[in-house]
Amino acid sequence: MPVTATAGAIPAVRWRDVIGQEPAKRALRDMVVLPYQNPELYEYYHMEIPKGTLLWGVPGNGKSLLAKAVATALNVNTAVTPRRTNPTQTSRGTITAGAAVNANAFQIVRGPELLSQWVGTSEQNLRAIFEGAEAYYRQSGKPGVIFFDEAEALFAKRGSRRGDAGVSDNMVAQALTMIDGVADSHVVVLCATNRQDMLDDALLRPGRVEIKVKVTRPDAEGCLALAKYYLANVPLRNTTIDDLSASLVDTMATTAMFNIRCADGNEYPVSLRDMASGAMIAGLVRRMKQRAIRRDIRLERSGAGLIAEDAVKVVALQAEGDRGLRHQAVLEDIAEDKGTTLAGVRPA
Ligand SMILES: Nc1ncnc2c1ncn2[C@@H]1O[C@H](COP(=O)(O)OP(=O)(O)OP(=O)(O)O)[C@@H](O)[C@H]1O
Ligand SMILES: [Mg+2]
Repeated sequence: MPVTATAGAIPAVRWRDVIGQEPAKRALRDMVVLPYQNPELYEYYHMEIPKGTLLWGVPGNGKSLLAKAVATALNVNTAVTPRRTNPTQTSRGTITAGAAVNANAFQIVRGPELLSQWVGTSEQNLRAIFEGAEAYYRQSGKPGVIFFDEAEALFAKRGSRRGDAGVSDNMVAQALTMIDGVADSHVVVLCATNRQDMLDDALLRPGRVEIKVKVTRPDAEGCLALAKYYLANVPLRNTTIDDLSASLVDTMATTAMFNIRCADGNEYPVSLRDMASGAMIAGLVRRMKQRAIRRDIRLERSGAGLIAEDAVKVVALQAEGDRGLRHQAVLEDIAEDKGTTLAGVRPA
């Protein structure tokens, strides 16, 4: 039986574990978490609680991390929401309809995995996922969170697929129906994509996934903050966290990767720093630690720590590996930030 949703436990990602992304964090706190912390106020002002939120933006910058932070905050910091309708509760207060359903606080649904299943079973699985979230609400009074990762696979524009068009078009329709059927405040739907252009417009209509939060690439300051976060508590030798972080980010900034030709007629140089993501910085720090471990083994000593040279070496390795790859999404995003669109790419 293939896995559809990674289910269950409440994640433990706090807001402070997501470095940078301040506008995204603020939007998620204010629009997604706040209603559950102040349900009486929302009721008093007849404010509808939004059902769905889209996190979009280039890969590796914290969309999944933010989804987990939302789920954590909803479960840690929320008042129990008033249970308005609860037909499944018996006079003894036990859940009957929910008995066969596993209550789930947080479920990750990966679009491609759900779609790769036997025809018919994905529909059933999708229903079970929504039931699991509703069951969690009945059990705890807190909303169940459903996170559709790689949402463009599940919510692809209808008619845009060849081959399996029938199946996925049905899935889009069914998933939209399920979102519509969710009672206010019972289920929080989060979607993430780095291909928002591929999403079916109907998903983003008011009453469905109406909040849109952009997750951005880190600037130089953001890169520094990420490096410091990942280097915290790492043993260092003859250097400091500040120096090593600065050296890492400076070396990235002076590492030329591509020249992009843009629709505005200009060509712009792109450095590794320009292309950086949270995932890249986390990976660079991991590589530095691997170097230190290999050095300790080779020199038969233990715990000598990272040295300044490690930063320069891992950036060179990263650049070497990345030069051969396509970086369409990131380079498009860089062009967009310059107010233009990408027309061509050549190596620096
Ligand atoms: N803002 C951030 N703060 C701290 N760590 C980050 C951040 N962004 C990314 N990372 C690191 O990179 C990893 C990947 O990030 P994440 O999965 O959240 O990215 P994503 O935006 O969901 O990417 P994708 O589009 O590829 O799914 C995280 O597990 C974390 O280690
Ligand atoms: Mg992700």
